[in-house]
Amino acid sequence: VKHLLGIRDLTRQDIELIFQTADQFKEVLQRPIKKVPTLRDTTIVNVFYENSTRTRISFELAEKRLGADVINFSASGSSVSKGETLIDTVHNILSMKVDMVVMRHSASGAPHFLSRHIDVPIVNAGDGINEHPTQALLDAFSIREKLGSVEGKKIAICGDIMHSRVALSNIYALKKLGAEVTVVGPPTLIPKHLADALGVNVTYSIREALEWADVANVLRIQLERQNMPLFSSLREYSLAYGVTRQLLNSLKKEVIIMHPGPINRGVELDSNVADGNESIILQQVENGVAIRMAALYLLSGRKIN
Ligand code: CP
Repeated sequence: VKHLLGIRDLTRQDIELIFQTADQFKEVLQRPIKKVPTLRDTTIVNVFYENSTRTRISFELAEKRLGADVINFSASGSSVSKGETLIDTVHNILSMKVDMVVMRHSASGAPHFLSRHIDVPIVNAGDGINEHPTQALLDAFSIREKLGSVEGKKIAICGDIMHSRVALSNIYALKKLGAEVTVVGPPTLIPKHLADALGVNVTYSIREALEWADVANVLRIQLERQNMPLFSSLREYSLAYGVTRQLLNSLKKEVIIMHPGPINRGVELDSNVADGNESIILQQVENGVAIRMAALYLLSGRKIN
């Protein structure tokens, strides 16, 4: 069984195949009838143990656009609160003849663990601080769409690198596609050993990063993953690392602004930057549907119709 557990496991050719397939689905999504019957005899369950707006809706829409039957499971409101384990929960769902699992979980490695116990494809929709592969694919796809290619482009990933599965998956994807990557944020959120292990450039100056970059992917501070504060306040973080209109105007060049969402407006990104001409944030969300259609279709092993 093939799974999509992380970008780390993919080759550049795998990523390019997903992009070429997403190009075809993006074309389908521009048509008056946005559906194809490719997965019409497939049932997919979206198993979410952690909150989501974009990823969950995007997967559900991708599945429905492919003609699949869709089941949505949230841990909140389920028998997880009565002590049922992840494996029991998923085995019970699969016994009702479900063909694929999309899973988000707050524990890093949860989908990898599950993949050793079930024999249907699993798509990782975000596991703890590990990976968020479809987010990185839609991010790189959006850069390719905006700039023509990812190869040779300078991408700054800004903010809470240590706790961000988006950062890790983006770093894997962008490096495989030949981009140059710099991470920027407070030293407490980018320890030296992490930057060395990731094999990327590091700076602790947001101005320096933006002066260098073609694209800035700005991340939220993930307070829910921090056991103790790693900076004094969100206001101080915003003053030192917030991407503001004033900062962008002072650069004398344009930097494309990305954000995976949810945005904390006025903290990592000012509203007039998030909604400004440089922002491709909503294009990222739009592209997520085609990317997830491509990933589900390729994992299903079907021929495209
Ligand atoms: N980008 C992203 O994963 O957003 P959600 O948490 O809303 O799914």
